[in-house]
Amino acid sequence: MSDPGNKPAATLDISDPMLQQLSEHIECRTGLHFPRERFADLERGIAKAARDLGFRDAGAYAESLLNRDLHTADLEALAGSLTIGETHFFRDPGAFAFLETTLLPELIAARRAGHRRLRIWSAGCAAGEEPYSIAILLHRLIPDLGDWHITILGTDINPKVLARAAAGIYSEWSFRDTPAWVKPRYFLNRSGGRHELQPWLKLMVSFACLNLADDVYPSILNNTNAMDLIICRNVLLYFAQARIPQVVRRFHSALVDGGQLVLGAVEASQTIFSELTPVAAPGVALYRKNGAATLGTTIGDFSEPHQAVCPTAVRSPAVGTQAHPPREAISALPVGRGNAFAEANTLYAAGRYREALATLLAGKSPQRKTDPRAAGLLAQCYANLGELAEALVCCDRAVAVSRTDPVLHFLRAGILQELQRDEEALLALRSVLFLDPGHVLAHFTMANLHRRRNRMSLASKHLANVRLLLANRDPGEELPQSGGLTVSRLSGMLAQEKEGTTDE
Ligand SMILES: C[S@@+](CC[C@H](N)C(=O)[O-])C[C@H]1O[C@@H](n2cnc3c(N)ncnc32)[C@H](O)[C@@H]1O
Repeated sequence: MSDPGNKPAATLDISDPMLQQLSEHIECRTGLHFPRERFADLERGIAKAARDLGFRDAGAYAESLLNRDLHTADLEALAGSLTIGETHFFRDPGAFAFLETTLLPELIAARRAGHRRLRIWSAGCAAGEEPYSIAILLHRLIPDLGDWHITILGTDINPKVLARAAAGIYSEWSFRDTPAWVKPRYFLNRSGGRHELQPWLKLMVSFACLNLADDVYPSILNNTNAMDLIICRNVLLYFAQARIPQVVRRFHSALVDGGQLVLGAVEASQTIFSELTPVAAPGVALYRKNGAATLGTTIGDFSEPHQAVCPTAVRSPAVGTQAHPPREAISALPVGRGNAFAEANTLYAAGRYREALATLLAGKSPQRKTDPRAAGLLAQCYANLGELAEALVCCDRAVAVSRTDPVLHFLRAGILQELQRDEEALLALRSVLFLDPGHVLAHFTMANLHRRRNRMSLASKHLANVRLLLANRDPGEELPQSGGLTVSRLSGMLAQEKEGTTDE
């Protein structure tokens, strides 16, 4: 490989049959669809990725791709060269007018009476203009914002655009078609005609790398569970038609009952989103998760979601995310008796949390209160439905009965972390490590929590432990309580880590 800094011109020498294979390979790993009519785009994108990675010969790079799974570096380079990350603040004025005047005010009113909590996910957020626009709207609409727990998550497959999102500095081009009041109120002028978001506004949004084609969501591991609103605009239009229902099914599972999905106008479809109810809304393709309809479905009606088979695919988790216990964590608990539990576990694994909950609660046996396995599953159902107070009660109950189970303590840590009770989450993680000093994700989560609180030396210590623990493990091994995160993927994430330098 030559020095990427020299940017040698890549030569194009990719045959049509090879482009066909590459198209299938890339589709499997990224969801991005390149039919024959778009082979020229695919070839250009691969040539650019090859050049960015320092290959002189795009054909040789393309050939190498076919003989292996895509590495993180390939995904980064291809994501940048094969997708259009173009966006701007308040893109599509009609959609934002609807969000500002109708959707968000209704959501806020519904939550004002109870827990003041909102969870919003911008999936395929590019350089962050979309989630920051939502943050600006929430600031305008919620006068007592400080009393609310607001989560705005922006995810994208392309780490380069996410780095720009986290920096929050934009050129004039990001403000085309943006209402005039936005810039003076929410941005600081910087040199070279650039504009930087007010620091407090940056803090309202967190970013993580997440490939929507991967089966890693919803999960409290990457904070993609219990969403009130998911906005995924101008992303699925690049996906193969057959793959879109898989993504939408996962979005469905990631929404709370009554939660809503906003798509781009060109992505609207009545047929492929049959799990979600279309809602008439001016200028917006809007869908609602109907809790009642989901509850009415019988277990016998349930069919496993179809998964496309990618022979070489490796499930990749969200990068740079908070580590929380994942969906299937409770299956690691000892297996007991009872069909209700087995049924509930199946429903839970399929993302049907409300039904799993109903199944568990319908069981007459008082055992459900004392069986740590059932109480733990109840806790996970509640957590995924965004009912965190209930989740914590159930988890505390399970821990009280089974004090020496690190799985339950890790689950408890995840719930506390979501409740933004970081210090208590750290205590729970200490219990995990007391009981299981080799619990990789407990170290990883501690590192993230310490870093969040700017305790960089503690964060570094736990990251060093993670590296040590990963050193001699099989790269393909899935880490316990990780939702499918493999040793090699976590190692890749650590390699990308840029440890900060400030200390407490
Ligand atoms: C045109 S931008 C959309 C930005 C914003 N949502 C909007 O509508 O203005 C499309 C974004 O989708 C991202 N993307 C493409 N494939 C993806 C995938 N498989 N997973 C996650 N993000 C993906 C691209 O990296 C790009 O930043």
